[in-house]
Amino acid sequence: MKNKIGIIGAGNVGATVAHLALIKDMGDIYLLDIAAEMAKGKAIDLNQSKFLFSSDARVEGGDDYSKILDCDVIVVTAGLARKPGMTRDDLLFKNFDIIKGISLKLKESKKNPIVIAVSNPLDVMAYTIFKVTGFPRNRVIGMAGVLDTYRFYHFIQNRLEVPYRYMESMILGSHGDTMVPLISQTKVAGKPLNARITDAEAMELAEMARNGGAEIVSLLKTGSAYYAPAASVVRMMESILSNRKGILPCSVYADGEYGYKDIFIGLPVTLGPSGVDKISTIKITEDEKNSLDASAKSIMEQIAKIKDKI
Ligand code: NAI
Ligand code: 2OP
Repeated sequence: MKNKIGIIGAGNVGATVAHLALIKDMGDIYLLDIAAEMAKGKAIDLNQSKFLFSSDARVEGGDDYSKILDCDVIVVTAGLARKPGMTRDDLLFKNFDIIKGISLKLKESKKNPIVIAVSNPLDVMAYTIFKVTGFPRNRVIGMAGVLDTYRFYHFIQNRLEVPYRYMESMILGSHGDTMVPLISQTKVAGKPLNARITDAEAMELAEMARNGGAEIVSLLKTGSAYYAPAASVVRMMESILSNRKGILPCSVYADGEYGYKDIFIGLPVTLGPSGVDKISTIKITEDEKNSLDASAKSIMEQIAKIKDKI
């Protein structure tokens, strides 16, 4: 049986997820957007590109929720990007309204889908989807840590010129200014990163990863990153749909893990056909735990702003 993949939001991230999933022949895809004709147009174009990749997947587009409700995995990328003059809170409230509306529709699914949240502010939007749909906690997962870690790899690679397969790292916490790069867990060709470069240099690379999204926004001027975000979503889908192993940093509902309760936060997880298989407890330094606590606090403050509207 072919997998069915639903993507809500046919903008830059959503359409790029569709393109990558099509290239990888991961399943049939439905691309939904309030701009129904735009979604339909992109779906036709994507469909006509598949012959280059010998892909058998089919892509459809429009605004028909019955097609989304039939999907095994649903990626939520709908929403607004921050515009000039808009505060972070303006964005939080506007995207909260959009994501709550979408979640009320997803709630009707009988397929027990796995939802991957992408829209920002990520950890709060994942929390909203989880609370509004009432889906089990292993079936709602936020994408951020994979992207932030890919960005860290990019800066390590630029500095040390090592192939990707020789790098190991993880970025936990929120998808925001308080994200936590685990320098203690970062290895290059099996050796700790801080055996190759000084601690200060390692911190500098981590800071570049933390600012990675903002750097791209300042260059693009009209939007935010989408190729690496889409690749990160597809990496998570590979674990879910194709059982590709590995621990990934994902935003998940914490119910006591690492001492956090009732928030979504980036933690190391194993994904599989039922979503989150396991949240791993890994050894982190005291400084890293303090930073993770600060990150959890900032997420809790944001969640507090929308909690009574759920
Ligand atoms: P985009 O503006 O290109 O696309 C957003 C799409 O959502 C638009 O096509 C719009 O028509 C659609 N939309 C708006 N309201 C909708 C609704 N109620 N129902 C269905 N569709 C609706 O934006 P882009 O670049 O694709 O980013 C999407 C979201 O993902 C943003 O919130 C962005 O901040 C976030 N993002 C998160 C990342 C992460 O690491 N978690 C990385 C990159 C982006
Ligand atoms: C990023 O990190 C905007 O969250 C998005 O690129």
